[in-house]
Amino acid sequence: MPTPPATPYYITTPIYYVNDQPHIGHCYTTIVADAVARFMRLAGHDVFFLTGTDEHGQKVEKSAASRGITPQELADENARHFVTALGYVGATNDDFIRTTEPRHEKQVQRVLSTLIESGDFYLDTFEGWYDEGQEEYVTENQARERDFTAFNGKPLVKATEENYFFRLTKYWDRVREWIEAHPEFVQPDARRNEVLGRLRDESRDVPISRTNFTWGIPVPGNEKHVTYVWIDALLNYMTALGLVDAEAADMDASRHHYWNASGPVVHFIGKEILWFHAVIWPALIMALRDAGRTDLHLPDAVYAHSFWIREGQKMSKTLGNFIDLATIEAYCENFSRDALRWFLLTQGPLGATDADFSHSRFVEVYNADLANGFGNAASRVTNMIVKYFDGQCPDDRGDPTNGDYNWPEITGKMIATATGQMEQLDVAGALRSGLELSNRVDQYINDTKPFKLAKDPDGMPEVGRILYHCVETLRIAAILMLPAIPDASQEFLTRIGIDPTSLSSSSLTWGGVQPGAAITKGEGLFPRADVDAPPPEVSASGS
Ligand code: MSP
Repeated sequence: MPTPPATPYYITTPIYYVNDQPHIGHCYTTIVADAVARFMRLAGHDVFFLTGTDEHGQKVEKSAASRGITPQELADENARHFVTALGYVGATNDDFIRTTEPRHEKQVQRVLSTLIESGDFYLDTFEGWYDEGQEEYVTENQARERDFTAFNGKPLVKATEENYFFRLTKYWDRVREWIEAHPEFVQPDARRNEVLGRLRDESRDVPISRTNFTWGIPVPGNEKHVTYVWIDALLNYMTALGLVDAEAADMDASRHHYWNASGPVVHFIGKEILWFHAVIWPALIMALRDAGRTDLHLPDAVYAHSFWIREGQKMSKTLGNFIDLATIEAYCENFSRDALRWFLLTQGPLGATDADFSHSRFVEVYNADLANGFGNAASRVTNMIVKYFDGQCPDDRGDPTNGDYNWPEITGKMIATATGQMEQLDVAGALRSGLELSNRVDQYINDTKPFKLAKDPDGMPEVGRILYHCVETLRIAAILMLPAIPDASQEFLTRIGIDPTSLSSSSLTWGGVQPGAAITKGEGLFPRADVDAPPPEVSASGS
């Protein structure tokens, strides 16, 4: 029977502003999306993982001017830093979109002309408050609530301007009803409630063009207006796949299937940009649908995680305490990239509360989960196979069970649990399921004591049986943990005779390790860390 085509899975990160250097926040969202992408590929999905940079807007224009370079030069320079950061954290994105690319700009202009024609974008005068840092318009009420202060602590600016507006009022109730009827659309729940709360207020239209600067996509037919950076930015999720107008963008239809009826579309973002993704974005898609430009379904999930703080304090430019690329590099060099990914993924702010990046916690988690956890189980098992069987993988003599331990059942259940968790975007839960499996192996060794049985030559068949159960279970644990710790997982798989480049959904069934395969022990995957050592030193130059 021919295998059915793999279900698509489309996952994105925000596109990051190029007026800033990459830091732990950007890396975190990217790593979370990367872990989901890696898992879904292993589970057999046809994944498209998108990230990129948001390059227009007043902030970029101003930063460039203050450095005496053009906005494009600034964008090119910082987009490069973001690409470097992606390589650094091991992201497996399928594309990197930049909003200054012609393929994006051309399609955004198509959206503008379509919606101006349909009447959902119209010209009017705006009077109100503007948050320059966030490039966000603020209503009188919100301005008062925030004490006329912008997100970055500076005062809000009073603005009167001729703008194009988006008729959000027309879609307000439809968006609210959608969110009410689809509890998984905005996650986690606390964030969903927040958005619904705001949607209970009176609706208002949104200004979507500016005339007081030029670094943006000109509005077709009225070029003194440039497109509001948020409309430009949100559309990246469509333009990267050529979904507005592939032909105009010199693209073809080969990516269209990533966003169709059959597979999930998932946006990972931080909580501060939820409104744009949970309200403006679906409204924009509805408007494009009403105008007949698209028949896309709304995204399946907008997951808004909380923030990393550092040693109990908010990270800010004023405090100068951002975990920047140089610090990330120092952690990777000291503990490994896998260690950083594991910590961020399992201890991160996926839920509704912020998470603290504290050095002592990092070391504690590293030692417990990786050095004494998976790393130790892996070396225990491979050492015994090398010692007792000359590195030749024993077999289980046809019996994958031992007393209470029914390994195909135990591993099968854990695979199902982890898969379910990942589908629910419980990334930390899914990864811990992998670790739990590895911890079961440790427990099994303590219970069955193969090292004692090996003292009697008659005990060797039993020792072989036990060790096969162990190594095979660790193979599955390594695959479940691979989305977080790709380097160590692949190294371990290679040591037990599995080609890590040929993993597929069928790798997640019992019986992958071949009896007779050459097993090597190699160096410890995660050497224990000294809890008393100071945090890694950060080189002044950074990267
Ligand atoms: N350009 C917009 C997004 C447009 S998407 C259509 C933007 N860019 S940004 O450079 O400011 O990146 C914001 C994202 O960075 C957040 O949504 C979040 O993903 C990440 N983080 C920034 N600081 C963070 C923390 N302190 N902690 C965790 N992630 C945070 O907004």
